Amino acid sequence: MTQRRATATAHANIALIKYWGKRDEELVLPYTSSLSLTLDGLRTVTTVEFGDLPADTATLDGEPLHGTALTRISTFLDLVRERAGLHSHATVTSRNEVPTAAGLASSASGFAALAGAAAAAAGLDLDARALSRLARRGSGSASRSIYGGLALWHAGHDDESSFAEPIHSPLDLAILVILVDDSAKSVSSRVAMRSTVATSPLFFRWVEDSARDLEIALRAVAEGDLATLGETAEANALGMHATMRAAVPPISYFTSGTQEALAAVREARAAGLPAWATIDAGANVKVLTSAADAERLAEWLRARLAGLTISVDYPGPGIAIDKG
Ligand code: PMV
Repeated sequence: MTQRRATATAHANIALIKYWGKRDEELVLPYTSSLSLTLDGLRTVTTVEFGDLPADTATLDGEPLHGTALTRISTFLDLVRERAGLHSHATVTSRNEVPTAAGLASSASGFAALAGAAAAAAGLDLDARALSRLARRGSGSASRSIYGGLALWHAGHDDESSFAEPIHSPLDLAILVILVDDSAKSVSSRVAMRSTVATSPLFFRWVEDSARDLEIALRAVAEGDLATLGETAEANALGMHATMRAAVPPISYFTSGTQEALAAVREARAAGLPAWATIDAGANVKVLTSAADAERLAEWLRARLAGLTISVDYPGPGIAIDKG
């Protein structure tokens, strides 16, 4: 084996058409295809070094990981070891860089960076599609963080056919993050997805709607129609959260701050600003807008939501791997 150590940098992404629910938990095959924007703001830098070690170890921002967090990384490394025919353990050192806002630590940037660093350190030569498929096994949304800008994750029907690819658009987009709550989420997306699929009577209706939403969004992206993209993204996200509310027991990531931020986004829109909200497995609200209007919209929302931190993010790059 030549390569033993590598470092990868990957950025978080925000889905405009969401991934929610796995058809196959082991392979991480989703019920829906999804569309996202990779951001320049939050990134994860991860180094993996294979060596003569008794076990895998990992640190995140200098803190050693234990229990399920470490097991999840080790299980992921097993996939890489298996492919590379490697038997040694690894030291994983990971740093989340969050310049503007806390509470947004992302499994997407984390597992994309881990996939890139581990594959390179193990001497595997993977193209972007193969890397996207590998990252998917760690966390579904990580499949999209391999690419910069807009990325489409094809749900597919097996390991081969479930991968993301970049999508080109004339749109210059931006995303604002309204930081409503910076604490860790109450229910992990993994657990919440499982329960939604198993118990929510609305889930499969949303899966159907989502296929149509994606078609509309892709057309809007190609034609540079921000308003249609925004409306579709907001409806898709609110629909996803509605499926969770109908789960037994109900799941809600919304807080009063979330509701307040959503109302402010609607008001901004009524005032003529391009602004559409999307929400993931947490209370924070992300706002899709155009790059040209982003700062003005941020000022408007800061005045309306006094006390809340609002950051502006622009499209970010795809994964970078340093084999040194
Ligand atoms: O990749 P996961 O398992 O953390 O799931 C992410 C799911 C959402 O962020 C809520 C939606 C998405 O498509 O990113």
